This record gives sequence, C-alpha cells and structure tokens, in this order.
Amino acid sequence: MRLTESGHSVVRVGLGARSYEIRVEAGALTGLGPLVARVVGPSAALVVTGSGPVAAYGDQAALSLGQADIRTYCMQIPRGERRKTLRWVGRICERMAEARLDRRSVVVAVGGGVVGDMAGLGAALYMRGVACVQAPTTLLAQVDASVGGKTGVNLRAGKNLIGAFHQPRAVLIDPDTLATLPLRELRAGLAEVIKHGLIRDAGYLETVKRDMRNLLARDPTALQSAIVGSCQIKAAVVEADETEQGARAVLNFGHTIGHAVETIGGYRRFRHGEAVAIGMRAACLVGEEMGITPPNVSEAVEDILRAANLPVNLPADMAPAGVIEAMGTDKKSSGGRPRFVLLREVGWAEPGFDPDVGIVRKALDRAQIV
Ligand code: GLY
Repeated sequence: MRLTESGHSVVRVGLGARSYEIRVEAGALTGLGPLVARVVGPSAALVVTGSGPVAAYGDQAALSLGQADIRTYCMQIPRGERRKTLRWVGRICERMAEARLDRRSVVVAVGGGVVGDMAGLGAALYMRGVACVQAPTTLLAQVDASVGGKTGVNLRAGKNLIGAFHQPRAVLIDPDTLATLPLRELRAGLAEVIKHGLIRDAGYLETVKRDMRNLLARDPTALQSAIVGSCQIKAAVVEADETEQGARAVLNFGHTIGHAVETIGGYRRFRHGEAVAIGMRAACLVGEEMGITPPNVSEAVEDILRAANLPVNLPADMAPAGVIEAMGTDKKSSGGRPRFVLLREVGWAEPGFDPDVGIVRKALDRAQIV
C-alpha cells in the first residue's frame, strides 16, 4: 500500500499487463473523470448505476466524467440480487450499442456488487471486451466484489453460474458513500471484512474487532483502514491466483453454505454478507467435525460475527437436506460434492476440502441450534 501525501491510500493489484490501482479516498467520486481520462483515455463512457439513492452517486460520476470532456451516457438497473440476470446484462450491452460506444469506450460501474458484477460482465462481452472502471458504493463491493475481476450473473440453479474474469482498469473507492448506506448493508459488508481477517490476517482481524463499534458508527478513519486492509488481503490472494486455479478459492470461505442459504432464501431473505456469516460459522462446524478447525477458533468466529450483529445460525425453517441439495449446483462443487474452505486457525484458511455428506449434515444440524 502507498499512503500518498494528500492522505488517500493506493493498493496495487499486480497482474502484469492487467495490473491496476485501487484508490481509497473520501470524496473521491468527484475526481472520477480525471482518473478515467488518465488511466483509460476513453472515446466515451457508459455509467451503470443502481436505482434508488445510489443513482445520485451515478449522477455525480457522470458529471465528473463530462467535466473531464468524456462523452458520457448513463443507465440505471433495478436493485437486488434477483435482477442479476443475463437479461439485464443484455440491456447494458444494448445501451452501449445505442450510444454507439466503440472498443475504446469504458463502462463505469457506480453502485453495489450487483451493479459491479453486471456492468463488469457487460464490459467483458461488448465487442469482445471494453475497459471497465469500478466505483463501488457499498462496503461489500468496496472490500470484495469490485476487486479481482470476477464478473457474473445468477441462474435459477445458483449464484454466479455465468461470468467472466475481466479485471477493471481502476477501482475508485469513496468511503463517504457509506454515510447513506442502510445499517443492514453495512453489517453485511463487515462479513466480508471479517472473512478477510479470518482467512489470512489475524492482526487485521484484531484491529477490526477493536474498531467494531466505530465501524458500526461509520467512523471515517475506521472505515478507511478496514477497506484498505481488506483490499490488501484480497489483492495479494488475487495476484497469486488470478483465475482461481487453486489458492484464490480461499476467498470462498463461508460461501459454500452461504450461497445455498442465499439461493434457498430466493435472494430476498438474506443479504449476501448475512448468508456468508451463517456459512462461515457452519464451515467452522464442518471443520470441527473433520478435526481441522479447533473449537476455540469456531468460538472466536461466532464472537466476532455476533459483535457485528450478523446472523450465525442456520434458520430453523431451512432444512439441512435442502441446503445440501442446493450446494450440489454450486460451481464450487466437484462431481456434485460440495467443496469447502476450512479454517486451521484464526488468520489461516485452506481450500479444497470435500467432506462426506454425513459430516456436512452433522454440522448443519449443529448450525441450526440457537
Ligand atoms: N469473492 C471471491 C473472489 O473474488 O474470488
């Protein structure tokens, strides 16, 4: 990480020709235009943003692009994970074609993870690939979805079953956007922050734990440092394994059961981060059953999730058998057998475990007990 003189932080994602910088700075959205002009130098831009309050950030981004003399078009997509479909990606591409965007154009995603994933996929597909800049406005997108180049949409059978790796040319994070984020969304983002500490950095997790009250109270310094810390961890993992041939899968800690819970809930009942919180605790129980995760580690995970006011139990009305079935269509499964990332200690997780279904069942039964 570089801390520049003006106080903003820059995290570099080193991927050879596809390297880019993540810039974290309060008020950064107003400087989006000059950044895009410098890094991409596009012929034109399409700003893709969400509906509702986030649209104001889209307007701010469009204004800044226009002021930087970039021909700019805008498009809003409706809110919600249920809208993360190929149909909406098709509409993004149609909008680009209508605006006569060419191969030198850029798609600028201003919003949460759904906007970023769909705008990123549109950029990957339009004319076989145009530039994309991510300007995430939710904590979850700032610490996870906007970094690392995963783009995608859901199918009825499961999450992110269609997608592409398409690295952004830059990520611009303005923590000021978190001031208007509903508290539930903020907490959901904290689940991914906690995940990063659990899988790779016990020291970072300690800081997050110490700062939890301040984070929930949206203290700007605490938020900026949590965002930068998470981006550093994620950047290091992505640099080591860009296309998830092995090690990157560690970022999926909590996602095997989490995605199943989210899918069964119809993408409505739980926010992604909430489902991941349930999934992380359940994965600890799977790890305990396999003799990989020590019980005191599971307790530490439960404690920090509770401190963030996140759910930790599988809901009583969600049958373990249904969760196991939903896991079979997850893209992390291999030959129909779900694959898990397990914690060996706080700060160290390993991917690639495929436990027997009886073990998963036992862990899910335990995860349901409040
Ligand atoms: N969110 C998991 C990854 O980027 O690999």
